[in-house]
Amino acid sequence: MTTAPDTGTPDVDVDLMVFGDNDQAFLEYPQPHYAKMRARRPLLSAPGAVQTTTRAALDTALRNAEIYSSGMEGAPLGTERPLIPLQIDPPEHRKYRKLLDPLFAPKQMAKLEPQISAQVNELIDGFEARGSCDFTNEFAIPLPSQIFLRLFGLPFSELPQLLEFNERTQRPGGSTAQEHLAARKANAQDVYRYFADVITERRKEAPRHDLLSKLLTTDVDGERLSDEEVIDVSFLMILAGLDTITDTLTCSFKFLAEHPGHRQRIVDDPSIIPSAVEELLRWETPVMTIIRVAHADAEIEGCPVKNGDYVLACLGSANTDEKEFENPDEVIFERNPNRHIAFGGGIHRCLGSHLARQELRVALREWHRRLPHYELPRGFVPEYSDGLRSVRNLTLLFPAAS
Ligand code: HEM
Repeated sequence: MTTAPDTGTPDVDVDLMVFGDNDQAFLEYPQPHYAKMRARRPLLSAPGAVQTTTRAALDTALRNAEIYSSGMEGAPLGTERPLIPLQIDPPEHRKYRKLLDPLFAPKQMAKLEPQISAQVNELIDGFEARGSCDFTNEFAIPLPSQIFLRLFGLPFSELPQLLEFNERTQRPGGSTAQEHLAARKANAQDVYRYFADVITERRKEAPRHDLLSKLLTTDVDGERLSDEEVIDVSFLMILAGLDTITDTLTCSFKFLAEHPGHRQRIVDDPSIIPSAVEELLRWETPVMTIIRVAHADAEIEGCPVKNGDYVLACLGSANTDEKEFENPDEVIFERNPNRHIAFGGGIHRCLGSHLARQELRVALREWHRRLPHYELPRGFVPEYSDGLRSVRNLTLLFPAAS
Protein backbone atom coordinates (compact mmCIF):
# COMPACT_ATOMS: atom_id res chain seq x y z
CA MET A 1 0.00 0.00 0.00
CA THR A 2 1.26 3.48 -0.81
CA THR A 3 1.50 5.56 2.31
CA ALA A 4 -0.33 8.82 2.03
CA PRO A 5 1.46 11.89 3.33
CA ASP A 6 -0.31 13.66 6.16
CA THR A 7 -0.63 16.71 3.99
CA GLY A 8 1.00 17.24 0.65
CA THR A 9 2.54 14.74 -1.69
CA PRO A 10 4.95 11.82 -1.45
CA ASP A 11 8.49 12.51 -2.57
CA VAL A 12 8.56 10.63 -5.85
CA ASP A 13 10.85 10.96 -8.80
CA VAL A 14 9.21 9.94 -11.99
CA ASP A 15 9.16 10.85 -15.65
CA LEU A 16 6.69 13.27 -17.05
CA MET A 17 3.24 11.84 -17.37
CA VAL A 18 2.02 10.74 -20.75
CA PHE A 19 -1.74 11.16 -20.61
CA GLY A 20 -3.70 8.06 -21.47
CA ASP A 21 -1.37 5.82 -19.49
CA ASN A 22 -3.02 3.57 -16.99
CA ASP A 23 -0.21 4.34 -14.55
CA GLN A 24 -1.64 3.56 -11.13
CA ALA A 25 1.12 5.36 -9.20
CA PHE A 26 0.46 8.51 -11.20
CA LEU A 27 -3.30 8.23 -10.85
CA GLU A 28 -3.09 7.84 -7.09
CA TYR A 29 -0.76 10.80 -6.52
CA PRO A 30 -0.57 12.89 -9.70
CA GLN A 31 0.42 16.10 -7.91
CA PRO A 32 4.23 15.55 -7.85
CA HIS A 33 4.11 14.73 -11.56
CA TYR A 34 2.20 17.93 -12.23
CA ALA A 35 4.96 19.90 -10.49
CA LYS A 36 7.53 18.30 -12.79
CA MET A 37 5.43 19.06 -15.82
CA ARG A 38 5.09 22.70 -14.79
CA ALA A 39 8.84 22.97 -14.52
CA ARG A 40 8.91 22.30 -18.29
CA ARG A 41 5.93 24.49 -19.16
CA PRO A 42 4.17 24.71 -21.54
CA LEU A 43 5.74 21.81 -23.30
CA LEU A 44 5.31 20.31 -26.68
CA SER A 45 4.46 16.80 -25.56
CA ALA A 46 4.11 15.27 -29.02
CA PRO A 47 4.03 16.44 -32.61
CA GLY A 48 0.73 18.21 -33.11
CA ALA A 49 -0.06 18.57 -29.42
CA VAL A 50 0.80 21.14 -26.78
CA GLN A 51 0.35 20.36 -23.13
CA THR A 52 -0.49 23.34 -20.93
CA THR A 53 0.19 23.00 -17.25
CA THR A 54 0.22 26.41 -15.58
CA ARG A 55 -2.84 28.34 -14.54
CA ALA A 56 -1.83 31.25 -16.80
CA ALA A 57 -1.42 28.97 -19.82
CA LEU A 58 -4.75 27.28 -19.16
CA ASP A 59 -6.51 30.62 -18.85
CA THR A 60 -5.19 31.54 -22.30
CA ALA A 61 -6.40 28.27 -23.81
CA LEU A 62 -9.80 28.18 -22.12
CA ARG A 63 -10.75 31.84 -22.35
CA ASN A 64 -10.08 32.22 -26.08
CA ALA A 65 -12.65 29.88 -27.54
CA GLU A 66 -12.42 31.59 -30.97
CA ILE A 67 -8.87 30.22 -31.33
CA TYR A 68 -8.95 27.18 -29.06
CA SER A 69 -12.00 25.32 -30.21
CA SER A 70 -13.72 22.44 -28.51
CA GLY A 71 -15.36 21.56 -31.83
CA MET A 72 -13.24 18.42 -32.16
CA GLU A 73 -14.32 17.30 -35.57
CA GLY A 74 -13.39 13.66 -35.87
CA ALA A 75 -13.05 13.50 -32.08
CA PRO A 76 -12.70 9.91 -31.05
CA LEU A 77 -16.08 9.57 -29.35
CA GLY A 78 -17.58 8.06 -32.46
CA THR A 79 -20.44 10.56 -32.63
CA GLU A 80 -21.91 11.78 -35.91
CA ARG A 81 -22.67 15.22 -34.54
CA PRO A 82 -21.09 17.39 -31.85
CA LEU A 83 -22.13 16.91 -28.25
CA ILE A 84 -24.15 19.95 -27.14
CA PRO A 85 -22.96 22.33 -25.73
CA LEU A 86 -19.46 20.93 -25.08
CA GLN A 87 -18.37 20.61 -28.70
CA ILE A 88 -20.05 23.78 -29.95
CA ASP A 89 -18.04 26.96 -30.48
CA PRO A 90 -19.23 30.54 -30.10
CA PRO A 91 -21.47 32.17 -31.10
CA GLU A 92 -23.84 29.12 -31.32
CA HIS A 93 -22.68 27.92 -27.92
CA ARG A 94 -24.38 30.89 -26.23
CA LYS A 95 -27.83 29.85 -27.45
CA TYR A 96 -27.56 26.47 -25.77
CA ARG A 97 -26.22 27.81 -22.48
CA LYS A 98 -29.03 30.37 -22.46
CA LEU A 99 -31.45 27.46 -22.48
CA LEU A 100 -29.54 25.19 -20.10
CA ASP A 101 -28.10 27.58 -17.48
CA PRO A 102 -31.45 28.41 -15.81
CA LEU A 103 -32.24 24.69 -15.51
CA PHE A 104 -29.04 24.14 -13.50
CA ALA A 105 -29.00 27.44 -11.60
CA PRO A 106 -28.04 27.43 -7.90
CA LYS A 107 -31.63 28.18 -6.83
CA GLN A 108 -32.97 25.20 -8.78
CA MET A 109 -30.29 22.92 -7.41
CA ALA A 110 -30.88 24.10 -3.83
CA LYS A 111 -34.44 22.71 -4.12
CA LEU A 112 -32.94 19.22 -4.49
CA GLU A 113 -31.44 19.31 -0.99
CA PRO A 114 -34.18 17.26 0.76
CA GLN A 115 -34.18 14.68 -2.01
CA ILE A 116 -30.38 14.34 -1.97
CA SER A 117 -30.33 14.13 1.82
CA ALA A 118 -33.01 11.40 1.81
CA GLN A 119 -31.13 9.49 -0.85
CA VAL A 120 -27.81 9.65 1.03
CA ASN A 121 -29.48 8.40 4.22
CA GLU A 122 -31.28 5.59 2.42
CA LEU A 123 -27.98 4.39 0.94
CA ILE A 124 -26.25 4.52 4.33
CA ASP A 125 -29.19 2.59 5.87
CA GLY A 126 -28.37 -0.19 3.44
CA PHE A 127 -24.89 -0.90 4.83
CA GLU A 128 -24.53 0.85 8.20
CA ALA A 129 -25.23 -2.30 10.26
CA ARG A 130 -22.61 -4.26 8.35
CA GLY A 131 -19.67 -2.10 9.45
CA SER A 132 -18.26 -1.88 5.95
CA CYS A 133 -19.29 -0.91 2.46
CA ASP A 134 -18.20 -1.10 -1.11
CA PHE A 135 -18.19 2.68 -1.22
CA THR A 136 -17.83 2.91 -4.99
CA ASN A 137 -20.70 0.59 -5.88
CA GLU A 138 -22.99 1.08 -2.89
CA PHE A 139 -22.70 4.85 -2.55
CA ALA A 140 -20.64 6.79 -5.08
CA ILE A 141 -22.28 5.30 -8.18
CA PRO A 142 -25.94 5.08 -7.08
CA LEU A 143 -26.15 8.50 -5.39
CA PRO A 144 -25.49 10.80 -8.38
CA SER A 145 -27.15 8.37 -10.78
CA GLN A 146 -30.41 8.30 -8.83
CA ILE A 147 -30.46 12.07 -8.44
CA PHE A 148 -29.63 12.63 -12.08
CA LEU A 149 -32.15 10.16 -13.50
CA ARG A 150 -34.95 11.68 -11.46
CA LEU A 151 -33.92 15.19 -12.52
CA PHE A 152 -33.73 14.17 -16.15
CA GLY A 153 -36.99 12.23 -16.01
CA LEU A 154 -35.94 8.64 -16.63
CA PRO A 155 -36.91 5.68 -14.42
CA PHE A 156 -34.18 4.28 -12.20
CA SER A 157 -34.51 0.93 -13.97
CA GLU A 158 -32.71 2.59 -16.92
CA LEU A 159 -29.51 3.06 -14.93
CA PRO A 160 -27.68 -0.13 -16.06
CA GLN A 161 -28.32 0.82 -19.69
CA LEU A 162 -27.03 4.38 -19.21
CA LEU A 163 -23.98 3.23 -17.25
CA GLU A 164 -23.24 0.81 -20.05
CA PHE A 165 -23.41 3.62 -22.65
CA ASN A 166 -21.08 5.62 -20.44
CA GLU A 167 -18.61 2.78 -19.94
CA ARG A 168 -18.54 1.96 -23.67
CA THR A 169 -17.71 5.60 -24.42
CA GLN A 170 -15.02 5.98 -21.74
CA ARG A 171 -13.47 2.56 -22.07
CA PRO A 172 -14.41 1.08 -25.47
CA GLY A 173 -13.51 -2.49 -26.37
CA GLY A 174 -10.62 -3.39 -28.67
CA SER A 175 -6.89 -2.91 -28.46
CA THR A 176 -6.04 -0.56 -31.33
CA ALA A 177 -7.14 3.03 -31.94
CA GLN A 178 -9.26 1.85 -34.90
CA GLU A 179 -10.97 -0.79 -32.77
CA HIS A 180 -11.68 1.78 -30.04
CA LEU A 181 -13.20 4.13 -32.59
CA ALA A 182 -15.32 1.38 -34.15
CA ALA A 183 -16.62 0.38 -30.70
CA ARG A 184 -17.42 4.01 -29.85
CA LYS A 185 -19.22 4.52 -33.17
CA ALA A 186 -21.40 1.47 -32.50
CA ASN A 187 -22.11 2.78 -29.00
CA ALA A 188 -23.00 6.24 -30.29
CA GLN A 189 -25.52 4.70 -32.71
CA ASP A 190 -27.10 2.81 -29.80
CA VAL A 191 -27.29 6.04 -27.76
CA TYR A 192 -28.91 7.91 -30.66
CA ARG A 193 -31.50 5.16 -31.08
CA TYR A 194 -32.16 4.98 -27.35
CA PHE A 195 -32.86 8.70 -26.93
CA ALA A 196 -34.80 8.89 -30.21
CA ASP A 197 -37.18 6.25 -28.79
CA VAL A 198 -37.41 8.04 -25.42
CA ILE A 199 -38.24 11.32 -27.18
CA THR A 200 -40.87 9.71 -29.43
CA GLU A 201 -42.61 8.29 -26.36
CA ARG A 202 -42.37 11.59 -24.50
CA ARG A 203 -43.93 13.56 -27.32
CA LYS A 204 -47.06 11.43 -26.95
CA GLU A 205 -47.50 12.63 -23.33
CA ALA A 206 -48.30 15.93 -21.66
CA PRO A 207 -45.08 17.76 -20.62
CA ARG A 208 -43.76 16.85 -17.18
CA HIS A 209 -41.65 18.94 -14.78
CA ASP A 210 -38.37 17.25 -15.59
CA LEU A 211 -35.31 18.24 -17.60
CA LEU A 212 -36.23 16.22 -20.67
CA SER A 213 -39.65 17.87 -20.91
CA LYS A 214 -38.01 21.29 -20.55
CA LEU A 215 -35.54 20.48 -23.33
CA LEU A 216 -38.44 19.46 -25.56
CA THR A 217 -40.68 22.44 -24.83
CA THR A 218 -38.54 25.52 -24.08
CA ASP A 219 -37.90 28.15 -26.76
CA VAL A 220 -34.60 29.97 -27.07
CA ASP A 221 -34.62 33.13 -29.17
CA GLY A 222 -38.00 32.04 -30.54
CA GLU A 223 -36.80 28.58 -31.58
CA ARG A 224 -37.27 25.15 -30.12
CA LEU A 225 -34.54 22.47 -30.09
CA SER A 226 -34.85 19.83 -32.79
CA ASP A 227 -35.03 16.17 -31.75
CA GLU A 228 -31.40 15.73 -32.84
CA GLU A 229 -30.32 18.64 -30.66
CA VAL A 230 -32.19 17.19 -27.66
CA ILE A 231 -30.45 13.85 -28.29
CA ASP A 232 -27.04 15.55 -28.48
CA VAL A 233 -27.64 17.37 -25.18
CA SER A 234 -28.90 14.15 -23.55
CA PHE A 235 -25.87 12.19 -24.76
CA LEU A 236 -23.55 14.72 -23.15
CA MET A 237 -25.58 14.74 -19.94
CA ILE A 238 -25.13 11.02 -19.40
CA LEU A 239 -21.39 11.33 -20.07
CA ALA A 240 -20.90 14.43 -17.90
CA GLY A 241 -23.51 13.86 -15.21
CA LEU A 242 -23.12 10.22 -14.15
CA ASP A 243 -19.39 9.69 -13.75
CA THR A 244 -17.93 12.94 -12.50
CA ILE A 245 -19.60 13.11 -9.08
CA THR A 246 -18.84 9.41 -8.53
CA ASP A 247 -15.18 10.13 -9.29
CA THR A 248 -15.06 13.10 -6.94
CA LEU A 249 -16.74 11.14 -4.13
CA THR A 250 -14.32 8.21 -4.38
CA CYS A 251 -11.20 10.41 -4.55
CA SER A 252 -12.43 12.64 -1.70
CA PHE A 253 -13.42 9.82 0.66
CA LYS A 254 -10.16 8.01 0.04
CA PHE A 255 -8.33 11.19 0.98
CA LEU A 256 -10.45 11.61 4.12
CA ALA A 257 -10.04 7.97 5.13
CA GLU A 258 -6.28 8.43 4.92
CA HIS A 259 -6.22 11.79 6.71
CA PRO A 260 -8.04 11.48 10.05
CA GLY A 261 -7.14 15.06 10.99
CA HIS A 262 -9.01 16.42 8.00
CA ARG A 263 -11.92 14.07 8.57
CA GLN A 264 -12.19 15.17 12.20
CA ARG A 265 -12.33 18.84 11.11
CA ILE A 266 -15.52 18.00 9.18
CA VAL A 267 -17.02 16.03 12.06
CA ASP A 268 -16.24 18.80 14.57
CA ASP A 269 -17.38 21.68 12.39
CA PRO A 270 -19.73 20.81 9.52
CA SER A 271 -19.85 24.50 8.54
CA ILE A 272 -16.44 23.89 6.95
CA ILE A 273 -17.97 21.48 4.42
CA PRO A 274 -18.61 23.93 1.53
CA SER A 275 -14.99 25.09 1.50
CA ALA A 276 -13.72 21.53 2.18
CA VAL A 277 -15.56 20.41 -0.96
CA GLU A 278 -13.83 23.13 -3.01
CA GLU A 279 -10.42 22.19 -1.61
CA LEU A 280 -10.97 18.48 -2.27
CA LEU A 281 -12.03 19.33 -5.83
CA ARG A 282 -8.85 21.41 -6.23
CA TRP A 283 -6.57 18.77 -4.79
CA GLU A 284 -8.10 15.70 -6.40
CA THR A 285 -9.22 17.28 -9.73
CA PRO A 286 -10.91 14.12 -11.08
CA VAL A 287 -11.21 15.57 -14.61
CA MET A 288 -7.47 15.89 -15.05
CA THR A 289 -7.24 17.12 -18.61
CA ILE A 290 -9.53 18.69 -21.18
CA ILE A 291 -8.77 19.16 -24.86
CA ARG A 292 -9.00 21.95 -27.39
CA VAL A 293 -7.88 22.25 -31.00
CA ALA A 294 -6.22 25.42 -32.33
CA HIS A 295 -8.09 27.06 -35.21
CA ALA A 296 -5.24 29.51 -35.97
CA ASP A 297 -1.50 29.84 -35.42
CA ALA A 298 -1.03 31.28 -31.95
CA GLU A 299 1.24 31.26 -28.92
CA ILE A 300 0.78 30.26 -25.30
CA GLU A 301 3.31 31.66 -22.85
CA GLY A 302 5.97 31.85 -25.56
CA CYS A 303 5.26 28.37 -26.92
CA PRO A 304 4.12 28.35 -30.57
CA VAL A 305 0.83 26.63 -31.28
CA LYS A 306 0.04 25.74 -34.88
CA ASN A 307 -3.35 25.77 -36.53
CA GLY A 308 -4.70 22.25 -36.02
CA ASP A 309 -2.60 21.44 -32.94
CA TYR A 310 -4.34 19.79 -30.02
CA VAL A 311 -4.02 21.67 -26.76
CA LEU A 312 -4.13 19.43 -23.69
CA ALA A 313 -5.17 21.62 -20.78
CA CYS A 314 -4.13 19.92 -17.57
CA LEU A 315 -6.61 21.15 -14.96
CA GLY A 316 -4.94 19.10 -12.21
CA SER A 317 -1.63 20.83 -12.76
CA ALA A 318 -3.20 24.31 -12.90
CA ASN A 319 -4.90 23.50 -9.61
CA THR A 320 -1.56 22.92 -7.90
CA ASP A 321 0.30 25.79 -9.58
CA GLU A 322 2.44 27.54 -6.98
CA LYS A 323 1.95 30.86 -8.80
CA GLU A 324 -1.80 30.66 -8.15
CA PHE A 325 -1.99 28.89 -4.77
CA GLU A 326 -0.02 29.46 -1.61
CA ASN A 327 1.24 26.12 -0.26
CA PRO A 328 -0.41 24.28 -3.17
CA ASP A 329 0.65 20.86 -1.84
CA GLU A 330 -1.23 21.28 1.40
CA VAL A 331 -4.90 20.46 1.67
CA ILE A 332 -6.29 23.44 3.58
CA PHE A 333 -10.05 23.35 4.09
CA GLU A 334 -10.11 27.05 5.04
CA ARG A 335 -8.33 28.08 1.81
CA ASN A 336 -9.72 31.43 0.76
CA PRO A 337 -9.68 32.48 -2.00
CA ASN A 338 -9.71 29.16 -3.80
CA ARG A 339 -9.85 29.86 -7.53
CA HIS A 340 -9.58 26.22 -8.58
CA ILE A 341 -10.62 25.17 -12.07
CA ALA A 342 -11.77 21.60 -11.40
CA PHE A 343 -14.95 22.56 -13.29
CA GLY A 344 -12.98 23.98 -16.23
CA GLY A 345 -13.02 27.63 -17.26
CA GLY A 346 -14.23 30.02 -19.94
CA ILE A 347 -17.46 29.52 -21.85
CA HIS A 348 -17.53 25.73 -21.38
CA ARG A 349 -17.21 25.88 -17.60
CA CYS A 350 -19.24 23.03 -16.13
CA LEU A 351 -22.97 23.40 -16.49
CA GLY A 352 -23.57 20.95 -13.63
CA SER A 353 -21.24 22.54 -11.06
CA HIS A 354 -24.07 23.69 -8.76
CA LEU A 355 -25.68 20.26 -8.86
CA ALA A 356 -22.30 18.65 -8.16
CA ARG A 357 -21.58 20.99 -5.25
CA GLN A 358 -25.00 20.39 -3.73
CA GLU A 359 -24.59 16.61 -3.89
CA LEU A 360 -21.03 16.64 -2.57
CA ARG A 361 -21.92 18.94 0.34
CA VAL A 362 -24.97 16.94 1.41
CA ALA A 363 -23.10 13.65 1.01
CA LEU A 364 -20.25 14.87 3.25
CA ARG A 365 -22.65 16.34 5.82
CA GLU A 366 -24.90 13.31 6.19
CA TRP A 367 -22.11 10.76 5.96
CA HIS A 368 -20.04 12.37 8.72
CA ARG A 369 -23.10 12.91 10.90
CA ARG A 370 -23.85 9.18 10.79
CA LEU A 371 -20.45 7.58 10.22
CA PRO A 372 -17.80 9.89 11.67
CA HIS A 373 -15.13 7.18 12.02
CA TYR A 374 -14.07 5.18 9.01
CA GLU A 375 -10.92 3.79 7.51
CA LEU A 376 -9.52 1.81 4.62
CA PRO A 377 -9.10 -1.97 5.04
CA ARG A 378 -5.55 -2.96 6.02
CA GLY A 379 -3.44 -3.41 2.89
CA PHE A 380 -6.04 -1.74 0.65
CA VAL A 381 -4.70 -1.29 -2.88
CA PRO A 382 -6.72 1.25 -4.84
CA GLU A 383 -7.59 0.53 -8.41
CA TYR A 384 -7.91 3.74 -10.41
CA SER A 385 -9.77 3.91 -13.68
CA ASP A 386 -7.93 5.51 -16.56
CA GLY A 387 -9.58 8.45 -18.22
CA LEU A 388 -11.26 10.28 -15.35
CA ARG A 389 -9.57 9.74 -11.97
CA SER A 390 -11.79 7.44 -9.95
CA VAL A 391 -11.21 4.74 -7.33
CA ARG A 392 -13.11 1.77 -8.71
CA ASN A 393 -12.80 -0.42 -5.62
CA LEU A 394 -13.01 1.93 -2.63
CA THR A 395 -13.99 -0.04 0.48
CA LEU A 396 -14.56 1.66 3.83
CA LEU A 397 -14.75 0.15 7.33
CA PHE A 398 -16.59 1.78 10.22
CA PRO A 399 -18.03 0.69 13.57
CA ALA A 400 -21.18 -1.32 12.83
CA ALA A 401 -24.41 0.24 14.08
CA SER A 402 -26.01 -1.86 16.82
C1 HEM B 1 -17.78 17.06 -9.50
C2 HEM B 1 -18.43 16.85 -10.62
C3 HEM B 1 -18.07 17.47 -11.94
C4 HEM B 1 -16.86 17.85 -12.43
C5 HEM B 1 -15.51 17.77 -11.73
C6 HEM B 1 -17.09 18.38 -13.76
C7 HEM B 1 -16.11 18.89 -14.57
C8 HEM B 1 -16.35 19.52 -15.79
C9 HEM B 1 -15.34 20.14 -16.60
C10 HEM B 1 -13.86 20.17 -16.28
C11 HEM B 1 -15.94 20.67 -17.68
C12 HEM B 1 -15.29 21.47 -18.82
C13 HEM B 1 -15.03 20.61 -20.04
C14 HEM B 1 -14.33 21.38 -21.15
O1 HEM B 1 -14.26 22.59 -21.10
O2 HEM B 1 -13.84 20.71 -22.07
C15 HEM B 1 -17.35 20.37 -17.58
C16 HEM B 1 -18.31 20.73 -18.51
C17 HEM B 1 -19.62 20.31 -18.46
N1 HEM B 1 -20.23 19.63 -17.43
FE1 HEM B 1 -19.37 19.06 -15.70
N2 HEM B 1 -18.42 18.28 -14.05
C18 HEM B 1 -19.06 17.74 -12.97
C19 HEM B 1 -20.42 17.47 -12.86
C20 HEM B 1 -21.34 17.67 -13.85
C21 HEM B 1 -22.72 17.26 -13.76
C22 HEM B 1 -23.39 16.60 -12.56
C23 HEM B 1 -23.30 17.57 -14.95
C24 HEM B 1 -24.73 17.30 -15.32
C25 HEM B 1 -25.57 18.07 -15.64
C26 HEM B 1 -22.28 18.22 -15.78
C27 HEM B 1 -22.48 18.72 -17.04
C28 HEM B 1 -21.53 19.38 -17.80
C29 HEM B 1 -21.79 19.94 -19.11
C30 HEM B 1 -23.09 19.87 -19.89
C31 HEM B 1 -20.58 20.53 -19.54
C32 HEM B 1 -20.33 21.25 -20.86
C33 HEM B 1 -20.59 22.74 -20.68
C34 HEM B 1 -20.35 23.53 -21.95
O3 HEM B 1 -19.73 23.06 -22.88
O4 HEM B 1 -20.83 24.68 -22.00
N3 HEM B 1 -21.11 18.24 -15.08
N4 HEM B 1 -17.58 19.67 -16.41
